[in-house]
Amino acid sequence: MALGTRTYQTVKLEHEQGITWVILNRPEKRNAMNPTMHFEMLDVLDQLEADPDTKVMVLTGAGEAWCGGQDLKEFFRELDDKPIERARASRAAQQWRWHRLFTFPKPTIAMVNGYAFGGAFTQLIACDFAIAAEDAIFGLSEVNWGIFPGGLVSRVLADAMTYRDAMYYIMTGEPFDGRKAAEMRLVTKAVPRDRLREETVQLAQKLLDKNPHVLRAAKEVYKACRTMDYWQAEEYLAAKGVALQHTDPEGGRSKGIRQFIDEKRYRPGFSAYSRED
Ligand code: ACO
Repeated sequence: MALGTRTYQTVKLEHEQGITWVILNRPEKRNAMNPTMHFEMLDVLDQLEADPDTKVMVLTGAGEAWCGGQDLKEFFRELDDKPIERARASRAAQQWRWHRLFTFPKPTIAMVNGYAFGGAFTQLIACDFAIAAEDAIFGLSEVNWGIFPGGLVSRVLADAMTYRDAMYYIMTGEPFDGRKAAEMRLVTKAVPRDRLREETVQLAQKLLDKNPHVLRAAKEVYKACRTMDYWQAEEYLAAKGVALQHTDPEGGRSKGIRQFIDEKRYRPGFSAYSRED
């Protein structure tokens, strides 16, 4: 599918009113991630970051899977005796699924339409939000075929699951459904399958109404300061707050204060300022 002049073998893109749907597109292999998909996703993120029509990004999968994890044949076995290709593919895999996606400058939603296994947890957790079909199936299946959750999976699980839940699913490899994922707070919410797209669009629309410069800064600072000590966080947040006042082309802060204090047009506790004036 083309974005501008680009075509992808393993990823399909669809645009709809500010939302770009990034669809992992190897349904016959349950959207397992082969090296081509990793290189293509790096390029997709480069393109979408600069694309003015992409205001919210939704990551989903074609067919019955969200993502079947790393491709056991093409990513693992076929690269076992190719160290250079293995290193390149691994770097691309970590880059797009964590470093780039976790800090993507626009809101990201994982719309989990089906199977999500192993390495797929990396991009699941990197996304700002995750909405799952109640009957989607998740699993840390690594132990079932002789490895442990590698790449960055064990690390990012520590951010997104409790110690008890992570240990249970890492060590048993037992699958669980979208309802259970929501109960554990691994996903934002689980919804009936026939409402999955609608609920995702509703969340995207909520985000589309907000000042994108403020949203970008809000996610950046929250994600960055989680690993700082208090002194560093205080300094960093103060500096980023000043920077935002100078870089926000909408002048959101002063507009928001004016519309509330002077014009009494809205209550920030319940809704956002009007971006129109
Ligand atoms: N790697 C490579 N090929 C895969 C993968 C994968 N992760 N997942 C599915 N496929 C392929 C199958 O080999 C099969 O290919 P074929 O048609 O050429 O034989 C095709 O996709 C369909 O798979 P089936 O097993 O026939 O489909 P089914 O719908 O019955 O089951 C399921 C889907 C549950 C996803 C199953 O394929 C499965 O368990 N896949 C492995 C999941 C997994 O453990 N992923 C790795 C996690 S560890 C990690 O990512 C580091």
